[in-house]
Amino acid sequence: MNLKQPGIGIAITGSGSAAPVHSLDNQGLSQLVETSDEWITSRTGIRERRLAAPTDSVTTIASEAARGAIAMAGLTPADLDLIILATSTADDLFGSASQIQGELGAQKAVAFDLTAACSGFVFGLVTAAQFIRTGVYQNILLIGADILSRWVDWSDRRTCILFGDGAGAVVLQANDRDRLLGFELRSDGTQNKYLNLAYVPQPKPLIDGVTIAQGGFHPITMNGQEVYRFAVRRVPEVIEKALFRANLSTEDVDWLLLHQANQRILDAVGDRLQIPADKIISNLAKYGNTSAASIPLALDEEVRQGHIQCGDTIVASGFGAGLTWGAAVFQWGR
Ligand code: COA
Repeated sequence: MNLKQPGIGIAITGSGSAAPVHSLDNQGLSQLVETSDEWITSRTGIRERRLAAPTDSVTTIASEAARGAIAMAGLTPADLDLIILATSTADDLFGSASQIQGELGAQKAVAFDLTAACSGFVFGLVTAAQFIRTGVYQNILLIGADILSRWVDWSDRRTCILFGDGAGAVVLQANDRDRLLGFELRSDGTQNKYLNLAYVPQPKPLIDGVTIAQGGFHPITMNGQEVYRFAVRRVPEVIEKALFRANLSTEDVDWLLLHQANQRILDAVGDRLQIPADKIISNLAKYGNTSAASIPLALDEEVRQGHIQCGDTIVASGFGAGLTWGAAVFQWGR
């Protein structure tokens, strides 16, 4: 897209990723809960997942991913104007983006967290783009990072098989040519109950007549069938809407980059949109569902392996708790 006003287009110029070193395969999981490699592989496509060690944190893995993205973009941390951390599992409920800013030495950058579960990266991409389009910022670091292993009930075989830990990052830069071609974001809080990582209050009397709540977060609960149904229905719709806004059709798509939740969801969405399997990016066999990290982690692997080339048209779609979902159509590179 050519712009009337130069320098307020968006280019995605760098990517990076990081995952904890420890890996747990399906065989290992079957020592923990009653399941099997065959069941997990056939229902989800997941074979193993990375799990953060006690010494890892969202800040450490996010910073590692960020350094890769900043270097690929040819920038230094001092060039960054803004850091957005998409996460649902911050090290600190007050937010972890500032810690990453400190860790990177990005003195000039303002930093904040954004929470939209597995849609966090796509929501973050669109949020970052607004700051560039309004001419406010030129260099933005967007990170998706989650350590869901902290919040999974490891005795619940319906959920613990799905999730893993990781981080991915991109750098967005102001550009004369606008490479963000279209997007569409959605939320539906009426279906919130299907996927939660909820704070559960415990009444605590303070003094006579004053009771407050002090509780904690309960592990992830999910209605798998409802979430599956939601994804296969809503994701193709939102992608078609984003493509419509970009004035493109599914034939123009070089890569379908979906949130890596389940291979069956990837296949069903690809079928519905008639996008061939060789255009559908999938790395979930190795990582499971890494929530906000999954899209930038898969993007970075494809870029570094030389599969995604400058100018390729990518449609990315995130979906998950909230419920939230969204899609963004962009071309890779400057
Ligand atoms: N190993 C073995 N058996 C399992 C199991 C496991 N890990 N998890 C569930 N089962 C059993 C169930 O108990 C049930 O047994 P029953 O028929 O005797 O009651 C049977 O398998 C079928 O369970 P069901 O929940 O109907 O399976 P499913 O085909 O819906 O697959 C999911 C379950 C979770 C893989 C699937 O629903 C899914 O992928 N949903 C989307 C989840 C998702 O992506 N969430 C994140 C979005 S961001």
